Amino acid sequence: MSQITIEGGKPLAGRVDLKGAKNLVTKAMVASLLGETPSRLLDVPHISDVEVVANLLNLHGVSITHDAATGDMMLDPSNVEQARMVDIDAFAGSSRIPILFCGPLLHRLGEAFIPGLGGCEIGSRPVDFHFDVLREFGAVIEKLPGGTRLSAPHGLKGTKISLPYPSVGATEQVLLTATTAEGKTELTGAAIEPEIIDLISILQKMGAMISVDTDRTIRIEGVKELKGFTHRAIVDRNEAASWAAAALATGGDIFVAGANQVDMMTFLNVFRKVGGQFDIQTDGIRFYHPGSELQPVVIETDVHPGFMTDWQQPLVVALTQANGLSIVHETVYEQRFGFTEALRKMGANIQIYRECLGGHPCRFGQRNFNHSAVISGPTELRGADIVVPDLRGGFSHVVAALAAKGTSRVSNVQLISRGYEKFLDKLEGLGADFEFKA
Ligand code: EPU
Repeated sequence: MSQITIEGGKPLAGRVDLKGAKNLVTKAMVASLLGETPSRLLDVPHISDVEVVANLLNLHGVSITHDAATGDMMLDPSNVEQARMVDIDAFAGSSRIPILFCGPLLHRLGEAFIPGLGGCEIGSRPVDFHFDVLREFGAVIEKLPGGTRLSAPHGLKGTKISLPYPSVGATEQVLLTATTAEGKTELTGAAIEPEIIDLISILQKMGAMISVDTDRTIRIEGVKELKGFTHRAIVDRNEAASWAAAALATGGDIFVAGANQVDMMTFLNVFRKVGGQFDIQTDGIRFYHPGSELQPVVIETDVHPGFMTDWQQPLVVALTQANGLSIVHETVYEQRFGFTEALRKMGANIQIYRECLGGHPCRFGQRNFNHSAVISGPTELRGADIVVPDLRGGFSHVVAALAAKGTSRVSNVQLISRGYEKFLDKLEGLGADFEFKA
């Protein structure tokens, strides 16, 4: 476990430069499998989730070059081939993206083997929607000891699908499977996150026929063949929100180059309500603490255009400094408050409840999940020894350590590089006082 020792109490100030969104780039890489010709993806960050997907694509015969400095990635799927199960299995537990290889591999090779999935432990994270959707298209799914094998004995055919919840991953599964399936597909209850719209733009560049209605319905007319794409990935709004919250929690001032107002509207409203200030410029957004008292807020995480679940963790750290009671109702993942235990250890006053507090009843309300948090502030945070539990929770731990008085030792920090490029370089550039031990 790598560890950083942080001397807290120093405002973060300076500039960070963002690249493409983790939650688009990895899916765009998978989409390249569908093309008959090479694809070029721009602004690809050097993060471990990208590495995992690149390695899996490599195993399936896609040759990839990635210039980590510019973010320019070339993906050539001319020689797509079946990978050996034992090699695929080596990636078991490393990411959730492999589940999205199903449709493209079924189209290209007639079968797919998917390793056991990984990803952050923030709920049970089932993949039932994914498999239900794939069965609708005609896939046959077989669970094996080391993973899942899929085949499509009669090909993949367009279908009518209704998602029980607007799942990002299941919507992407449908998009990546339906574009070259035979006939039309209608998906109702789809997720419409900006990263999904960006994926649709990529598929359209490749030759797909996809329309999005105002009521979360996506219609896809299957086409016979797709070509490669050239695309600049949408900027990572989750990373932008993370640095914004870090500026607020540490009393700092950060210019987030590349941050895009349109994709962050809901976040910006909350940031302003809490008392943070921002200047929207042509090339990014400056987020800063104006020096006045922070205000409590009541927020509910939700699917787009709601307040993203990935935004709440670093913001909760800033809310420990707000004057009064804040409520955060998490409605996307049932167990996304595990990270608050470390904050309590550092002096934060946070209570977690099973009830749906501060908003509408959600699907977790009657099911005993600890999914509402009440944060009472302001409380002084003190340095502590803490362990990073997951990606966003880990970022919030580091922010708490930076905001706290005294020394903190944060271990397991390598997890943060799954989603934040050059995390330690960025911290250093913002004037953080820390030492890293690999
Ligand atoms: N769900 C099911 N069954 C399924 C799929 C999802 O019950 O088959 C449930 C999940 O358990 C969850 C809810 O539906 O309660 C939403 O899950 P969704 O499928 O939307 O999430 P995802 O595709 O697995 C992506 C991001 C997450 C982000 C969510 C919500 C990627 C790789 N991950 O996950 O990002 O929080 O959408 O926007 O795109 C992160 O970046 O740290 C992260 C966790």
